Amino acid sequence: MDLIEQLKLELKNKISKKRYEHTLRVLEQGKILAKEYNISVNKVEIAVLLHDFCKEMKIFELFEICKKKNFSEIIGYENSNEILHGFAASVYGEEKFRIKDKDILNAVKYHTIGRENMSIMEKIVYLSDGIESGRSYPAVEEIRLLAKKDINDAIIYEIDRKIEYLIKKNVDIHINTLKMRNFLIREKNLRSDR
Ligand SMILES: [Fe+2]
Ligand SMILES: [Fe+2]
Repeated sequence: MDLIEQLKLELKNKISKKRYEHTLRVLEQGKILAKEYNISVNKVEIAVLLHDFCKEMKIFELFEICKKKNFSEIIGYENSNEILHGFAASVYGEEKFRIKDKDILNAVKYHTIGRENMSIMEKIVYLSDGIESGRSYPAVEEIRLLAKKDINDAIIYEIDRKIEYLIKKNVDIHINTLKMRNFLIREKNLRSDR
């Protein structure tokens, strides 16, 4: 059995039907973007199948997995499933599925909070998670349209809507999300200065 088949099978047993179906929709979106941006569809598939692998684990289990790795980005988020599940899934991928490709592991790790200087694969997994066909928040159509033109503009717009939402809900904004935005904005301004 190849890795993709194995991941699908194990994922199906590990998470709810609802989340499994979400992953299949992210997979569809991810494949479209991978082709559009000329990167390995196979790698995107592996990263997407892993991205929410640990999402339904108990918080103490997530923390146990992450603790071994001393990830600096999780300090202060020890009780946050939202932040920990991507980090834990990257460890899972490395240890359980023997995935060595750093780009795949980073795409999994940072799919929720992002980071500075993301690779195209990281961007594709991040964005596909947010715009898969089952998503229905107010700005999603606009983000989908932007994704067809420029993935960076789509991510900037997505971050802005996310930040507005987090401010309204009065919750924490992870520093990586702000760093990701700063990086993309600087890059965009450099391009338009030329
Ligand atoms: Fe996730
Ligand atoms: Fe997801």
